[in-house]
Amino acid sequence: MPNQNDPFKTSEIPVGVVGLGLMGCSITTCLLIAGHPVVAVAPIGVDLLHAESRIREHLHKSKENGLVSDGPEYYFDNLIITEDYASLRTSQLVIECTIEDKDIKASVYQKIEAVISAEALLTSNTSAIPISSLQKLTRHPERFLGLHWAEPSHTTRFLEIICGDQSSVEKGEYLYALSHLWRKEPILVRKDIPGFITNRLMYAMYREAMYLVENGYASIEDVDRSCRNNAGYFMTFVGIFRWMDLTGVKAYHTVMKNLFPTLFNGTEVPKLIDDVVKAGGNGVSNAKGFYAYTPEGAKLWEETFSKFTYQIRELALQYPADLIDKKLQQSQDENL
Ligand SMILES: NC(=O)c1ccc[n+]([C@@H]2O[C@H](COP(=O)([O-])OP(=O)(O)OC[C@H]3O[C@@H](n4cnc5c(N)ncnc54)[C@H](O)[C@@H]3O)[C@@H](O)[C@H]2O)c1
Repeated sequence: MPNQNDPFKTSEIPVGVVGLGLMGCSITTCLLIAGHPVVAVAPIGVDLLHAESRIREHLHKSKENGLVSDGPEYYFDNLIITEDYASLRTSQLVIECTIEDKDIKASVYQKIEAVISAEALLTSNTSAIPISSLQKLTRHPERFLGLHWAEPSHTTRFLEIICGDQSSVEKGEYLYALSHLWRKEPILVRKDIPGFITNRLMYAMYREAMYLVENGYASIEDVDRSCRNNAGYFMTFVGIFRWMDLTGVKAYHTVMKNLFPTLFNGTEVPKLIDDVVKAGGNGVSNAKGFYAYTPEGAKLWEETFSKFTYQIRELALQYPADLIDKKLQQSQDENL
């Protein structure tokens, strides 16, 4: 495990990121901002066409939005972008961020483990492949954990650290502590479960949303509007349990009795999303999704979302989860 004596000096913890697509680039940005030396490995040549400019753009926008005070060049001194896995040799933590394909991830782990030390941590940003099954593909399963980020990783506060059946929970706790320096509000998932925590919650909602549209209860626009204006108003402030506490637990108890038996619990991929994907749609990235986009419209959505992520981060930081509990503790201490 990295730097047992002083685990929290990021400048002394070299990190490797393997896979420089959408998430690999924003994860690299987050780690550079936190002060780590980063080796960013491109497993396929096409990554090199965009990686440097994407990371530079993230850093540039981070400065523009007050997230950092230095410009991209300052951080680029700490970054190596390469196709050569051997450059990972000194990494104490490696984050695999390749496409969601078990065979590809397996071949990438082989290349990584051929060069890193036995003490270095190896992690995956997989969205849904169980960590317990991925770690079976590695030489040292106990040092393998899930590290599940949310895009864009340099602005979001979300991070799930997932222990597989064979992972050392102690190493999970180390990553939990370290990730506070990445400005995360992390979650430690001590027991592996498909989808981890966030995707189990989110996919329950995606499934119900599709059921409502497919069965003519509401339009796509209206389902989105409902989500934004109800859940959207409280979710950045509190989670589900605190929300029920805030608004009266008894009412939820009553509604659950009546509503749960009516919720959709299908197991097939819904036709609504199947049709979009079969028609080649991917959403804003190719201007073809649940909504129709012109290329200009798609670009505007991307830009607006980017701006919003900085603003909501600012707002969320004014209301850290434990702020009120801390205030309460302070006033209790003062009264002693
Ligand atoms: N996009 C998200 O919001 C999101 C969120 C959480 C987790 N994830 C997970 O992160 C991982 C990467 O997702 P992404 O959105 O960055 O994907 P992406 O498609 O933008 O990038 C995928 C990367 O995989 C690598 N790759 C592709 N083909 C390869 C091959 N044949 N051999 C080796 N490497 C190859 C390349 O580096 C490529 O850039 C996936 O496991 C995904 O499930 C994504």
